[in-house]
Parts: sequence; structure tokens; C-alpha cells
Amino acid sequence: MIEIAPSILSADFARLAEDANEAVRGGATLLHVDVMDGHFVPNITIGPPVVASLRKAVDVPLDCHLMIENPDDYIPAFADAGANWISVHQEVCRHLNRTLNLIRSHGMQVGVVLNPATPVQTLGEVLDLVDYILVMSVNPGFGGQKFIPGALEKVRKLATMRAAKGLNYRIEIDGGVDLATIGPAVRAGVEIFVAGSYVFGHGDPARKVEGLLKAAQEATLLRA
Ligand code: DX5
Ligand code: ZN
Repeated sequence: MIEIAPSILSADFARLAEDANEAVRGGATLLHVDVMDGHFVPNITIGPPVVASLRKAVDVPLDCHLMIENPDDYIPAFADAGANWISVHQEVCRHLNRTLNLIRSHGMQVGVVLNPATPVQTLGEVLDLVDYILVMSVNPGFGGQKFIPGALEKVRKLATMRAAKGLNYRIEIDGGVDLATIGPAVRAGVEIFVAGSYVFGHGDPARKVEGLLKAAQEATLLRA
């Protein structure tokens, strides 16, 4: 099932609930929350208090993308705040198996993220522990960057590995998603699309989400 997950990073933080709900009105079925610590990535964003406020203001699941070091120290706080999905970066988890199990133990959907330079093979031993894999199509830290096409080869490999192992994790992509890049990503096997600046950067988030959904659905028909 194709889903659009608008990234609130590009929303107006002073009217977060309104922006988020406009995106939902346009057909967004998830909201993507970018959590940055100024260490793993060179930027600082938001933490559990904002997640807790957003949880009360919107009805769709919150997909929290943790771009932070030592995620185990914060996963319980995000769970308490009402996060529904949590993904952690392969690059920061020295004990990735333990971290993924910790997310699961809090009853949340479990995700793992790969930076553009990280090969899919690094996930070989944890594929059966995750509900979704987030492939970064930009280097994490900022919205508004250009889509890195090599991400699609990684998506194809992850889809092949999934079939070979009889698993059913979903594949999400993050960074530079717009009307031009969404079609090729659908055809490569992506189901969940994070989009920040495209949705919130040019006014009318509802119409932007509708446009992305339509483009993705058209590409799905071509794939079939
Ligand atoms: C980047 C974040 C993304 C970002 C995407 O570090 O993980 O979620 O908000 O923004 P766009 O869609 O503008 O590339
Ligand atoms: Zn993100």
C-alpha cells in the first residue's frame, strides 16, 4: 500500500497542528518526525515534548526518525510521548539487535535506516526483526536536498532480499521526494514516501500530498 509521510521538518513549527492536519486532509496516512541531536547530524530539531503535543493534535501514526546517538536512552521517552513507529540508524547502533528489540518491547513499529553510503548487506542479520527499512536518498540533517539516484538500487536489492527470505518488511524512502522522483521510486519498490519541502515548502500541503499520491498511484499501474 502506497503511503505518503509528510516530514514536519519543513512545516511552520508555530502552526504545526494546522500544517499537519492539512497534509492529512490531502491523504497523508503517516506523519514523519525528524529528530536530530546535533551530533549524529549537524542540526538540532525536536524531542519527545513535541511528539506528545502532536500526538494529541493529529489522528495518523507518528513515524519518528531518530537521527541521534545513543537512541536506546531515548526510545522509552518517545514511546511514552506517543510515537507509533521508530526508526534508528544502522550507523549509530553498536548493538543493533538489542535496539530493535527495545523498540519492539514498547509495542511500536520497528524500523532501521541506512545512510546513502551504508550498504544494504549491513542489515543481513536483522531483516527479520524490522517492520520497515528507511533508505535515505539524501545525507540526513536537512530538508530540501537533491535526491541521490543510487538509493533506488538499494531499494531494489532490499526487495530482492525480502523475496529470497520470505519476509514482509516495508520499504520507505526519505529525501528529495517530489513529483519527478516519486515515480521511479515506486517502480523500484518503495511503498512509503517521506516528503518535507515538497509538501510544506510551497503552500497548500493538502494539494501537494494529493499530487504525490496521484503520481505514485499512476506509477504503480505502470509497474503492474
Ligand atoms: C533529512 C530528513 C528528511 C527531510 C526530508 O535528514 O530525514 O525527513 O525532512 O526533506 P525533503 O523532502 O525536503 O528532502
Ligand atoms: Zn527523515
